[in-house]
Amino acid sequence: SEGPLVLGIETSCDETGVGLVRGTTLLADAVASSVDEHARFGGVVPEVASRAHLEAMVPTLERAAETAGVRLHDVDAIAVTSGPGLAGALLVGVAAAKALAIGLGKPLYGVNHLAAHVAVDQLEHGPLPEPCLALLVSGGHSSLLEVHDVTVGVEPMGATIDDAAGEAFDKVARLLGLPFPGGPHIDRAAREGQVTIDFPRGLTSRRDLERHRFDFSFSGLKTAVARWVEARERSGEPVPVADVAASFQEAVCDVLVRKALDAATERGIEDILIGGGVAANSRLRALATERAADRGIRVRVPRPGLCTDNGAMVAALGAELVARGRTPSTLDLPADSSMPV
Ligand code: KG4
Ligand code: ZN
Repeated sequence: SEGPLVLGIETSCDETGVGLVRGTTLLADAVASSVDEHARFGGVVPEVASRAHLEAMVPTLERAAETAGVRLHDVDAIAVTSGPGLAGALLVGVAAAKALAIGLGKPLYGVNHLAAHVAVDQLEHGPLPEPCLALLVSGGHSSLLEVHDVTVGVEPMGATIDDAAGEAFDKVARLLGLPFPGGPHIDRAAREGQVTIDFPRGLTSRRDLERHRFDFSFSGLKTAVARWVEARERSGEPVPVADVAASFQEAVCDVLVRKALDAATERGIEDILIGGGVAANSRLRALATERAADRGIRVRVPRPGLCTDNGAMVAALGAELVARGRTPSTLDLPADSSMPV
């Protein structure tokens, strides 16, 4: 296989990810998640995540090298997520990457987490279409980005003004009595239900569109679902969990797809890439593909394992930085939790 052998490290949230790629070929994607440790809190606890990264880093590095059948000494470069994300969590990955870069005498590349979510697609579908419009939806972010050169950066067109899409899935799942993280459970429950309730589509009124054309809002939707469920419980009737899940999911996917398509159309972009944990959602994939076809727009969604946070996405972007001759980071690379998305 061709291209540089690149190691990627991801620790921006609750996944400790170590990936190895050669060029655009995925060799290993080792992920250790602390999600179970956060479950009883209903969300990611930063201190718990940082400690879990510390404990998982070396074993995950070893597992990735073993799976790929390479020695760390053979890597050509080390890439690491330097932001945005949880400050303490990012620090663990950045420190590990620096230690490796120094110890192995290899160049270090700090990368933007969102750009890595975009770059990962080429491990599955080949060279990235550039320009493309990226819809990144996870528990921590929900953004629309314009991408002309993924190694230079991603340009935000819009983002959530309150909850992230995945956060909305998790909160609604919780109030329906489904386990955390709730997204996959809502997805599954919705398949047994019907879209019977017309929940609100955030930031789609004419007035909201003037200021928030490509932004999202999911907190009003979450409140609407909570009110609906409460009213049902007060009336003594059973809550139709599958129908509520399907109706909520439809409201989220409708807005995500509508705005992504409008953004692409406005910028004359013909390729949409969807990433982040929520990209695993079956309705989102189906709706995006169906509506995009009507407008002559192509949609690419990596397989679910590559959509959620992982080290391979960081390695993929690292390999692209090397391939396009970008300058490595210096060894004082900071962890930048508030890096612009
Ligand atoms: O990218 P990710 O693993 O981590 C970050 O949050 O950065 O995304 C996790 C989020 C969670 O909120 C989870 O509920 C959601 O992605 N998710 C889904 C599905 N699978 C995961 N949401 C909707 N449908 C799914 N099938
Ligand atoms: Zn992410």
